[in-house]
Amino acid sequence: MQNRCTPNMPRIDVFAPAKVNLALHVTGQRADGYHLLDSLVAFSPVGDALTLAPADALVLKVSGPEGAAVPEGPENLVLKAAALFGVGAAVTLEKCLPAASGIGGGSSDAAAALRGMAALTGQPLPDAAAVLKLGADVPMCLDPRPARTRGIGEDLTPVALPPLPAVLVNPRVEVPTPSVFKALTVKDNPPLPEIPAFADAGACIGWLADQRNDLQAPAVAQAPVIAEVLAVLAALPGCKLARMSGSGATCFGLFGSEAEAEAAQTALAASHPGWWSAHGSLGDQAQKAAATVR
Ligand code: C5P
Repeated sequence: MQNRCTPNMPRIDVFAPAKVNLALHVTGQRADGYHLLDSLVAFSPVGDALTLAPADALVLKVSGPEGAAVPEGPENLVLKAAALFGVGAAVTLEKCLPAASGIGGGSSDAAAALRGMAALTGQPLPDAAAVLKLGADVPMCLDPRPARTRGIGEDLTPVALPPLPAVLVNPRVEVPTPSVFKALTVKDNPPLPEIPAFADAGACIGWLADQRNDLQAPAVAQAPVIAEVLAVLAALPGCKLARMSGSGATCFGLFGSEAEAEAAQTALAASHPGWWSAHGSLGDQAQKAAATVR
């Protein structure tokens, strides 16, 4: 029997995983100023959590360890995304990822809001142009599986990747994306080479070592602590590759095993208690990120 304190209303849970740019090559610039990228992305089991329930108006409550920096007003991408459905909803966002940190937190939250609103309302997802207008990284976060992303982020090709044990580290410095792009001097770098089928994580990491993040140098110039993060990560036992994600400041280290990544994160959290860090294997988070009805 339905308890009158728990009315028979659907509540949707949606997970918004962190996005990591394993490699990011800037290959050109459009007439409108946006940069053309060729990037390989994968998703982390670490992320934010949203709930959605029917309501007369669209309202957002933000909580969680990283919630203080996140606005609850209409400028929040979650509300901009949910508003595309034209109906009210009570949305909660538990913010675990640091804001403005190069791992797509806001974009992944917006994508999760789209998945959640589609489940709540039975409406289809907005068209591709409306999704892209929310932000260049929102399309790739809508179906969080490893992908090669081109254009400004709208041209997606799924890629099969082995799970990549990783540590994510953010030194708690916000690096504004536009200023990092603006500081780029070379904007016509070579694209990624053809992405082979990787036999295992080691082969993938070996291939990644020959690629780059072209935004890393301008981000380090603006926030030198990123160079320190990369050096600390690279010196952790078992770290095979350390690189920045997106426009920073979050960096990732790739390890030979999940146990090594966990031990490295424990050591890093002890040596740098002011830095945000997390561990988990990067890869396909589509199942974990699917909207579920309670
Ligand atoms: O699309 P999004 O709002 O995430 O982009 C933020 C800013 O980052 C843009 O206004 C632009 O200055 C810069 N950007 C860019 N090229 C991209 C993505 C973002 O120049 N591919």
